[in-house]
Amino acid sequence: MHPWIAQRTTTFDASGIRKVFDLAANLKDPINLSIGQPDFDVPESVQQAAVEAIESGKNAYSPTQGIAPLREAIKADLDQRYAHPDREVFISSGTSGGLMLSMMSMINPGDEVIYLDPFFVMYPALLKMAGGVAVPIDSYPDFQVDPDKIAAAITPKTKMILLNTPANPTGVTATVEQIEAVAKLAAKHNIALVSDEIYSHFHYDTPFVSAAQFNPDAIVIDGFSKSHAMTGWRVGYVHGPQEVIATMLKIQQYSFVCSPQPAQWGALKALEVDLSSHIDDYRQKRDLICDLLADRFEFTRPGGAFYLFAKAPGNDGGEAFVKRAIEQGVLIIPGKIFSDKDTHFRISFAAADETLRQGAEVLNRLADEG
Ligand SMILES: Cc1ncc(COP(=O)(O)O)c(C=O)c1O
Repeated sequence: MHPWIAQRTTTFDASGIRKVFDLAANLKDPINLSIGQPDFDVPESVQQAAVEAIESGKNAYSPTQGIAPLREAIKADLDQRYAHPDREVFISSGTSGGLMLSMMSMINPGDEVIYLDPFFVMYPALLKMAGGVAVPIDSYPDFQVDPDKIAAAITPKTKMILLNTPANPTGVTATVEQIEAVAKLAAKHNIALVSDEIYSHFHYDTPFVSAAQFNPDAIVIDGFSKSHAMTGWRVGYVHGPQEVIATMLKIQQYSFVCSPQPAQWGALKALEVDLSSHIDDYRQKRDLICDLLADRFEFTRPGGAFYLFAKAPGNDGGEAFVKRAIEQGVLIIPGKIFSDKDTHFRISFAAADETLRQGAEVLNRLADEG
């Protein structure tokens, strides 16, 4: 290791993802079922709002906490929804920025952080960067949030529970009862509950319910990346107890500084956009991919997000199956990138229906070949 590299960077690695990108780089015209963002573009009105912001000179730093109209609009909605007297909100540099600031502001070295395995790739990396100890909870085979398993993992060192519903990579949505139980468990033990709700709009079978509904101190992280296909714009928001939010802002001031100002004006417009036709479209994609793969693959039907997490056929594991799929031009992601196990693979159904059909045909053929 180069002598300048800090110790904290050695506790996690990104080589798994790099390997997939390397394999993908050799593909000419892949059937791409790996993408973590919608296949629709940023709504026209949102694009126009950002262009107008740039052209009218809104190009400087914004306040650290974000532009006032965006923050006030989100705050008004939160007040109406929860009426929590201590709830404050700020605009972060994407949801990732909010996650990073959550760890930096709340995790001391040695603090334990509970989250479900499979998990979003950033969780273990970010909490370890802050010196935290990862406490993954095995949620195979159905990927449900099991409040009893979470309760059993709590120790005097537990500082945070990270909840992600709808989940990446499984697409599984927690039930209202599960969310309520985890929210109350965190409150009972005075543990921070960080709820990553980036896929909240993509909730196909039941209305989305936030953990904040049941825990006035829940820290919620949300954003515009997925709902409005704005992954490159870097606008998210975090709400929670005022003092925690003020601490995150202190760190944002000395790191991200602010979310890009023109993008924030776009996000303000995004609040007015009706997403229902896109969500209906994605519900149909979910139905389509489930129908196409149901005969040959084991998976829990995703209730949200745009991912399906299926067990690789045979006994060679997820990575070996993904390698075979990529050799046939289908780009999917090995489950071990999101997990301590190498048994599954992730499909993103944020793709054209024809791409989903082509991809499923190849995957089904590979399953038949064994
Ligand atoms: C569960 C989850 N949280 C957070 C993020 C990060 O999103 P953002 O673009 O807002 O940083 C992602 C992106 O894939 C995600 O899947």
